[in-house]
Amino acid sequence: MDAKALLQQYQHRVEQQLKTVLSHSGDAAKVRQAMEYSLFNGGKRVRPVLVYMANQLLGGQLEQADAAACAIECIHSYSLVHDDLPAMDDDELRRGKPTCHIAFDEATAILAGDGLQALAFELLAADTTLPSGICLQMIRILAYNSGYLGMVGGQSIDLCNEGKQITSEQLELMHRHKTGALISASIEMGALSSNHATEKDLQALNAYSRAIGLAFQVKDDILDIESNTETLGKPQGSDLLLDKSTYPALLGMAGAKQKLALLNQQAHASIEYFNDAAAPLHWLADYIVERQY
Ligand code: IPE
Ligand code: IPE
Ligand code: MG
Ligand code: MG
Ligand code: MG
Repeated sequence: MDAKALLQQYQHRVEQQLKTVLSHSGDAAKVRQAMEYSLFNGGKRVRPVLVYMANQLLGGQLEQADAAACAIECIHSYSLVHDDLPAMDDDELRRGKPTCHIAFDEATAILAGDGLQALAFELLAADTTLPSGICLQMIRILAYNSGYLGMVGGQSIDLCNEGKQITSEQLELMHRHKTGALISASIEMGALSSNHATEKDLQALNAYSRAIGLAFQVKDDILDIESNTETLGKPQGSDLLLDKSTYPALLGMAGAKQKLALLNQQAHASIEYFNDAAAPLHWLADYIVERQY
């Protein structure tokens, strides 16, 4: 199967899994609807796809990667719901639809994010396909990379840096936290879900995820300038409006694109050791760089 078909297969798989996850009891219907709205609004599902690709690369069973795939997408969706709130980026459009706080209300959006975050950990803790020691490791990895030393820390640095001139080291640190951390967690959990990961595998995959994680946000910054609202499904120019620290702002557009190309090369080089088995991951590294939204 070619890599694009694989991407679609994994996107479909995580959608199906997530659909079974939200309980349809009549309790707390409003927040559940807001969670559902935020999970099923056309995301690319890059992080769950990475979970499945890492799992398959190391000879795992897809079933053993389902909980991690759903959990990472719940955390990612929560991070976007909160990222769009008036107190943060104050955006009204996400994946081509009104953001959660516009479709519902601000309090419900805060609660939907909180609910998605808790759900992620519940899913990992409830998984019965893997030894409990591995589930615990995944919970630790996801908690660390979501928290103040990961995504939440990066989001805080992002907000503190609005309107400021920062160095390229500070910018890289911010991007590695706010976006790179969840991408690294995806790959690491996917590898662990195979139940076969060696230290050498994890090292190579770690180098790969550091490269694509940073590349992902560099590309996001570029698209904020070069794309348009319709294609992006989120407001083009949001970073400029908020005077965010971004790669194009620091290095200029040509410099940002050079950085992206370098990271792409590093991503490919880091997984050479897997030979042809890593073809889907090579494809995904290019997809991240070439994507239009
Ligand atoms: C957007 O992430 C936020 C960033 C971390 C840059 P994605 O581009 O993966 O968003 P969706 O899930 O596909 O909408
Ligand atoms: C968001 O970065 C990163 C996280 C949500 C953790 P951005 O603020 O650039 O994401 P978009 O552009 O709104 O998707
Ligand atoms: Mg933001
Ligand atoms: Mg934003
Ligand atoms: Mg952005």
